[in-house]
Amino acid sequence: MRQVLENIGELAVCPPNNAQQDAGLIHDAAVVIEDQQIAWIGAASALPPAYHTSEKFDCGQRLVIPGLIDCHTHLCFGGWRDSEFEMRLGGRSYQDIQAAGGGIASTVKATRESSKEALHARARQFLDRMLQLGVTTIEAKSGYGLNVEDEIKQLEVYAALDQSHDIDIVPTVLGAHVVPPEYADDREAYLTLLCEQLLPAVAERDLARFCDVFVEQGAYTVEEAQRILTRARELGIQPKVHADQLSDGGGAALAARVGAISADHLEYVSEAGMNALAAAETVAVSLPLASLYLSEPYLPARRLLQAGIRVAVATDFNPGSAPSYHLPLAMLLACVNQSMTPQESLMGVTVAAAKAVGLERSHGSLTPGYRADLVIIDAPSLNHWMYHFQDNACKAVMKSGR
Ligand code: NIG
Ligand code: FE
Repeated sequence: MRQVLENIGELAVCPPNNAQQDAGLIHDAAVVIEDQQIAWIGAASALPPAYHTSEKFDCGQRLVIPGLIDCHTHLCFGGWRDSEFEMRLGGRSYQDIQAAGGGIASTVKATRESSKEALHARARQFLDRMLQLGVTTIEAKSGYGLNVEDEIKQLEVYAALDQSHDIDIVPTVLGAHVVPPEYADDREAYLTLLCEQLLPAVAERDLARFCDVFVEQGAYTVEEAQRILTRARELGIQPKVHADQLSDGGGAALAARVGAISADHLEYVSEAGMNALAAAETVAVSLPLASLYLSEPYLPARRLLQAGIRVAVATDFNPGSAPSYHLPLAMLLACVNQSMTPQESLMGVTVAAAKAVGLERSHGSLTPGYRADLVIIDAPSLNHWMYHFQDNACKAVMKSGR
């Protein structure tokens, strides 16, 4: 089927090879969709005659952008942690709460106690709301099972939802989120279980495209992460790293060393870490909602961009550090607190985010040949959309041409 989107006020093409500051804005544009792909884009006045008779859709002079990609989420979890929110507001730190047995460990308990069906139903509701916001692809991590059975339970929820929900899900195994409480006195045994049981089981069932490790005090050391990510790579699962979130722990340099596709967080990244990321062409994933909720610094986006690094923007949606899946809010925070322009922020949730999940040849751009995932925003321009924050400015979503 062929459709023409016309009367577009501003079209953000987001060409994959453009510099991050240039989202490829076109005014009075038209877009032609053929089946599941973008077939043509350009000024409406240049629409080839062959397309004049196609089915038309009037965009009412609104902004049209690629479907948004949330390249870092912890979508599937049991329970919430609202009591910790209040404790943090009262002055206790995220790491204090974690050391006292709360934090990630309490979500692990709630997730283990949840059935696969319950987790599936809950994650589906979140996905429905994300889609309404204009999100058409997400990355989703396990990391709240921390044993073979419950990690696989989370990853199977993602596999089933990827099949049945319109949103595309890229799964990541995060068995190395923290060391689970029952292995507190024997880390080595858990590392062995990760490398010799969990990762091989995940690889054998093709349940994860990426393997992530939380490198931080109270989580994993650089050496442990290197061992886990090297093993994952051997099994065909590509590395990602939660790096330098609460302290400069050498996570960025590790990400570069193991050839990670992305290094995420980077609130405390060092100059040397930045240089290593630039040389390795690793994507930096900024998670401004986590900075907001934890009252932590924001990642130094200007310095990263200056170093030639792609900076993606994602929500980090999880029940602890970032209990919100509102990606346009994260984009606004990236503008206001990371000094990213609206164009850089949009490129961060399209081109850069696609690169962070290995989909840069098919997703995140309105270039002909790319997947017809696009969003009509109820604003006359990108700048206006970012400036006038609305609970939901998304007017319509097209996923794979539908
Ligand atoms: O990305 N930092 C580690 N993991 C998550 C938080 C998970 C949680 O608090 O449950 C993050 O911020
Ligand atoms: Fe995270």
